[in-house]
Amino acid sequence: MNIPLPIILHALFMFIGFVVLLYAASISMKKKTNQWLKKHRITALSGVTSVITGLIIMILFKESKGYPHLASPHAIGGLVTSFMALITPTLGYLITKGKQKVKPLHKWSGRLTIILVAITIIFGFIRLLEIVTK
Ligand code: HEM
Ligand code: HEM
Repeated sequence: MNIPLPIILHALFMFIGFVVLLYAASISMKKKTNQWLKKHRITALSGVTSVITGLIIMILFKESKGYPHLASPHAIGGLVTSFMALITPTLGYLITKGKQKVKPLHKWSGRLTIILVAITIIFGFIRLLEIVTK
C-alpha cells in the first residue's frame, strides 16, 4: 500500500486543524482571563489556516495528476466544511467590530464548523480506504 505524500499531508493538516479548532473553542468557553479573546482569535485562525493548507495541497495534487475535482461525497462535503471554516471567523470578527447580534450566530456556526470538520475527517478516511482497496 503506497499512499501518495500529498494525501498524507492533506489528512495531517486537516487533523491538526481539527485539534487546534477544538482548543480555540474551549478557550472561548472558559474565559478565565481577559486575554481569552486574543488567544481564541489566534488559535482559531491557526486552525483555519491548517484546514485551508490541507485543502490547497489536495487541489494542487489533483490538478497535477489531472484527477477530477469534487468527484466524491467526501470532496463535496469537504468543500462545504472549508466554506464554514471561513464563514465562522468572519462572524467572530464582526462581533469584535461591535455587531453584538452576530454573537449567537458565531457560537452556533463555530460548533457546527467543528462538528463538520470531525465528520469530514471520518469520510476522508473512508474515501482513502476506498481508493487503496480499489
Ligand atoms: C476537515 C477535514 C477535511 C476536509 C475539509 C477535506 C476536504 C477535501 C476536499 C475538498 C477534497 C477534494 C478536492 C478536489 O476535489 O479538488 C478532498 C479530497 C480527498 N481527501 Fe479530504 N478533507 C478532509 C480530511 C481528509 C482526511 C482525514 C483524509 C484521509 C485520511 C482525506 C482524504 C482525502 C482523499 C483520499 C481525497 C482525494 C479523493 C477525493 O477527492 O475524494 N481527507 N478532501
Ligand atoms: C473557525 C474559527 C472559530 C471557531 C470554531 C470559533 C468558535 C467559537 C465558539 C464555539 C464560541 C462560543 C463559546 C461559548 O459557548 O461561549 C465562540 C465565541 C466567540 N468567538 Fe469564536 N470561533 C472562531 C473564530 C473566531 C475569531 C477569528 C474571532 C475574532 C476575530 C472570534 C471571536 C469570538 C467572540 C467575540 C466570541 C463571543 C464570546 C462571548 O462573549 O460569549 N471567534 N467562538
